[in-house]
Amino acid sequence: MREIILAPSLLSANFAHLGRDSDRMEKAGAKILHFDVMDGAFVPNISFGIPVLKSLNKYTDMPMDVHLMIEEPHRYIDQFADAGADYITIHIEAESDIEGTLKKIAERGCIPAISVKPGTPAEDAFKYLPLVKMVLVMSVEPGFGGQSFMPIALDKITAFRKEADRLGLDIDIEVDGGIGIETGKQVIDAGANILVAGSALFNADDPAAVINELKNYGKSK
Ligand code: DX5
Ligand code: ZN
Repeated sequence: MREIILAPSLLSANFAHLGRDSDRMEKAGAKILHFDVMDGAFVPNISFGIPVLKSLNKYTDMPMDVHLMIEEPHRYIDQFADAGADYITIHIEAESDIEGTLKKIAERGCIPAISVKPGTPAEDAFKYLPLVKMVLVMSVEPGFGGQSFMPIALDKITAFRKEADRLGLDIDIEVDGGIGIETGKQVIDAGANILVAGSALFNADDPAAVINELKNYGKSK
């Protein structure tokens, strides 16, 4: 069983205190920070982007997991890599040159990843698996934090894990949206090993308790 890693989604942080809030998550046991970039076109919301990533990357040692919810992300790979992205995830629904963009991400020394929205079948992304190190399965419609988990993600996680195993590929499966203790356990059972959580961690009185429960659940498997 893979180690379970929690990635707090900064979308649920207080943007006036991003440094303080990322410290709080690091102390609670988070291993990477999830950074949701939205352009108001691919999704109906606008969040933060390159200058904010640059500042935060200088401030914290935690790896930055950049989730690009933007149209034609190939236009910005260099800028996000320069700003300190460690993982760069693109949506297959948003990019016209998926292969070229994934290769570019890898050439820039970042970890290439693809994501699929709840309505996109896993099979649509299978052909890109040899080019990625991570798949991000969306368990809500991208755009906003605090939504309810969509169980349709569970079969998709299992399908990706099965296909990666069949191809002999070492791929992390990340899941994003509506993750708390109960849904977190379900996605671990389905085969996910990186769990993004926004509201469940930032709104918790004791985020370490949430992180520990999910990590220990993974170890017990
Ligand atoms: C949604 C974002 C998520 C979101 C998760 O578009 O990609 O990362 O912030 O927030 P919660 O955990 O509150 O659903
Ligand atoms: Zn995200």
